[in-house]
Amino acid sequence: MTAKIIDGKQIAKDLLENIRLEIIERTNQGQRNPCLAVILVGDDPASEVYVRNKKIACEKVGIKSLSYDVESNISQAELLAIVNKLNVDKDVDGILVQSPLPDHINEEEIIHAIHPNKDVDGFHPMNIGLLALRQPRLRSCTPYGVIKMLKATGIELKGLDATIVGVSNNVGRPMALELLLEACTITSCHSKTKDLEQKVRQADLVVVAAGRQNLVKGEWIKKGAIVIDIGINRIDGKLVGDVEFDSASKNAGYITPVPGGVGPMTVATLMENTLLAQKLS
Ligand code: GUN
Repeated sequence: MTAKIIDGKQIAKDLLENIRLEIIERTNQGQRNPCLAVILVGDDPASEVYVRNKKIACEKVGIKSLSYDVESNISQAELLAIVNKLNVDKDVDGILVQSPLPDHINEEEIIHAIHPNKDVDGFHPMNIGLLALRQPRLRSCTPYGVIKMLKATGIELKGLDATIVGVSNNVGRPMALELLLEACTITSCHSKTKDLEQKVRQADLVVVAAGRQNLVKGEWIKKGAIVIDIGINRIDGKLVGDVEFDSASKNAGYITPVPGGVGPMTVATLMENTLLAQKLS
């Protein structure tokens, strides 16, 4: 078997076009364009690339983006003051604080400070809690983007055995909640998991977000399984995922590439969340 490639780039493009059209429709009815405030602390090159891509997407769909580029030595209080100012600004719908943040910043406190209805990253405990309680509101962009990709393939998710590798707050945990919402039977794996290979071998759907190149071997993939690779590892200037792509493609029914898989979906979902945040305000 040779896996079908799930083309995240194309699915994201279609999603962005729908968002663009909806924003035009809303502005024709007198609404202002949605507005996303992006806070970038310091000059981490990868973060600069991610933020630039987000702003390009904003421009494509008609979302106004505001840039708050601040020095890496900004204090916790100063950063909180920016967030608090944006929280009460009626012309701002979404607030995104790009991570990672410098070590002296308490990231948890910053995320908690963002108003839940402006939390377009879907990281706030209120939004994660709502997802856990089956009342999703603003949903974490990468996991929700994965769900959109899976739905675009037309595959029935109900009842699938899903193994998620990685339990980070921003990706692995909300991914498990999203798949539970789709009525998958979920297995969450982490560094203390006994026999990762067996957990992957049994899965109809494998979602990997561990940040370790080639962690999941192609031979572990069950025939016909769906493989979603969220890993982004920079190896000799090249981007690779967490799954051995070539050998996994021989067993899988569907697989996402890196790059061009989940990455574009994260950005497109952020645009959708910003539009939703405007509707919530
Ligand atoms: N850093 C890497 N990915 C993300 C993301 O999706 N949101 C934020 N805020 N920071 C990130």
